[in-house]
Amino acid sequence: MARQKIALIGAGQIGGTLAHLVGLKELGDVVMFDIAEGIPQGKALDIAQSSPVDGFDARYAGTNSYEAIEGASVCIVTAGVPRKPGMSRDDLLGINLKVMEQVGSGIRKYAPNAFVICITNPLDAMVWALQKYSGLPKHMVVGMAGVLDSARFRYFLADEFNVSVEDVTAFVLGGHGDTMVPLIKYSTVAGIPLPDLVKMGWTTQARLDAIVDRTRNGGAEIVNLLKTGSAFYAPAASAIAMAESYLRDKKRVVPCAAYLNGEYGLKDTYVGIPVVIGAKGVERIVEIELAGADRAAFDKSAEAVKGLIDACKKIAPDLA
Ligand code: APR
Repeated sequence: MARQKIALIGAGQIGGTLAHLVGLKELGDVVMFDIAEGIPQGKALDIAQSSPVDGFDARYAGTNSYEAIEGASVCIVTAGVPRKPGMSRDDLLGINLKVMEQVGSGIRKYAPNAFVICITNPLDAMVWALQKYSGLPKHMVVGMAGVLDSARFRYFLADEFNVSVEDVTAFVLGGHGDTMVPLIKYSTVAGIPLPDLVKMGWTTQARLDAIVDRTRNGGAEIVNLLKTGSAFYAPAASAIAMAESYLRDKKRVVPCAAYLNGEYGLKDTYVGIPVVIGAKGVERIVEIELAGADRAAFDKSAEAVKGLIDACKKIAPDLA
């Protein structure tokens, strides 16, 4: 079988890490696109030169022209600007919306059959705009946020309990921002829900609350440490997990920003919810029952996303 082509739109910190992971996991050939001249070409050559050492076969190309992404099976979009200390994801909206317009038309023209994963922030609004600008089917355009947010939650929980990260599952819903909703009762260690672990004396509610808080601010914690950009290893790993589920038809159940048309009581919006990703893209939206404080927190998060989408519509009325 011929290798799949994976287009990485944006060859910055996340784009470079994505390119490396695609090779290490032998998911396909890589085209790195960026507006910066030399960066995608240089990174592509550098990673290609690591392939004999690590023993993977993949072709790498760097480009400044959308033509080169022609026929891609997967496009992962990181084009845009990242946060600096003191900036919220939302501060990026105006600049990155224009970037989505360019990226959307490039994908529309050259890779209309691709599965598109958006990472650019503010995530929920940018993936919403990218779907509109690209005109691709809604089930083929998703945003990467929940896998990363739940990975952060899982890591902190595994650390708290001193158990393997592999045995910790976690659920995070809602927008990719400070209003995200980590769901304690659906998060487990080897199937044992967190509230039970509190009862068993493994941790306290206060410590869990602190972990939830740290998860919500997981991105900002890294921005404040790096000072020159935002997280890139874990975001890249998370998007690769989504791409792999599509390419290998794994049908993984993962939280991601997906288009809602009535589910969860929301319409024409993207927000983080569990979905099944397989060869047909988003094959199923998992609509869990939300009640009480969880419902209220989810609604608050959806409201924050709506505010961002409304801001996009104001800047670009053609999107409304
Ligand atoms: N088209 C293509 N590439 C672009 C465009 C554009 N219009 N505008 C900017 N870029 C490129 C930049 O040249 C840069 O190489 O996007 C790349 C972004 O890379 P970084 O600045 O290193 O940012 P990164 O850490 O990879 O994050 C990218 O993901 O998590 C989000 O908030 C983050 O929105 C940011 C995005």
